[in-house]
Amino acid sequence: MMRKIPRILNLPKITDQRGNLTFIEGNRHIPFAVKRVYYLYDVPAGAMRGGHAHKKLEQFVIAASGSFTVVIDDGRRRRKFFLNRPHYGLYIPRMVWRELEDFSSGSICVVLASEEYDESDYYRSYKAFLKAFRNQK
Ligand code: TYD
Repeated sequence: MMRKIPRILNLPKITDQRGNLTFIEGNRHIPFAVKRVYYLYDVPAGAMRGGHAHKKLEQFVIAASGSFTVVIDDGRRRRKFFLNRPHYGLYIPRMVWRELEDFSSGSICVVLASEEYDESDYYRSYKAFLKAFRNQK
């Protein structure tokens, strides 16, 4: 059983003279089945993405190209994860506030998600997230 805490998960990497190949199977390399994939690209220098938490959604974030930093706030403390290689990623469970920043020029952030897009699953205010987090304890 994979624990549902924010953490880096390493992915398989097949290397030969033609280059590298990495693959991800839902419920095997990451702890959920994938229902949606989206990606961020052409992010201008200095832009901040994310800035929300999810009631139910789980995500896995990969720097498919370039690099960026994911700030994770689990309601108790803040941690920063620097992503810069396509053969690992950051697992983000439900009820975790995240901010993505310091995107390098040309970077691509691929996100695998456990649910389809649903605006009602978002906490877009940090205050509302903290309140909900404290109420569930
Ligand atoms: P937003 O949540 O601001 O992106 P980020 O995760 O970087 O903070 O999403 C930007 C817009 O895109 C917003 O209007 C919602 C929409 N959107 C979809 O329609 N489908 C999706 O899967 C996602 C992630 C966003």
